[in-house]
Amino acid sequence: MKVLVLHGPNLNLLGRRDPGVYGTKSLDQINEEIEALASQLGLEVEFFQSNQEGVLIERIQKAAESYDWIVFNPGAFTHYSYALRDAVAAAGVPTIEVHLSNIQAREEFRSRSVIAPVCAGQISGFGAASYFLALYAIFERAGGQTGGI
Ligand code: DQA
Repeated sequence: MKVLVLHGPNLNLLGRRDPGVYGTKSLDQINEEIEALASQLGLEVEFFQSNQEGVLIERIQKAAESYDWIVFNPGAFTHYSYALRDAVAAAGVPTIEVHLSNIQAREEFRSRSVIAPVCAGQISGFGAASYFLALYAIFERAGGQTGGI
């Protein structure tokens, strides 16, 4: 199983950005931890971060050629990017939307995701573990048994 882990805008600032909300781990640290778990689960992961909507769209469009799943934190695009939603829907690659923070427990504008309805599911509120939970979900869908780990 090949998984593209896609990070949207401002996630390159993790560690320095609002640590009370997003934690103190940098994006590189989080990616290392994702990589370590993925290898235990027998998943192959690749990472990509961009602050630009069009660049993310192009990456999603190309994902159909080489990935079985996308784990996507769209950052603030979550709340208004119909273009990213359309890209996810058109790519035909099952996608899990993840958020470090609990988007339901913050400002009202964050409580709505325009992308989640075209995703396999959404995981929100567990810090870096939101990404780990997405990997467990993929592992289960691929026939693995998380309960047996
Ligand atoms: C976020 C939540 C978004 O509302 C915010 O704009 C982000 C990060 C999260 O991971 O909690 O950039 O996606």
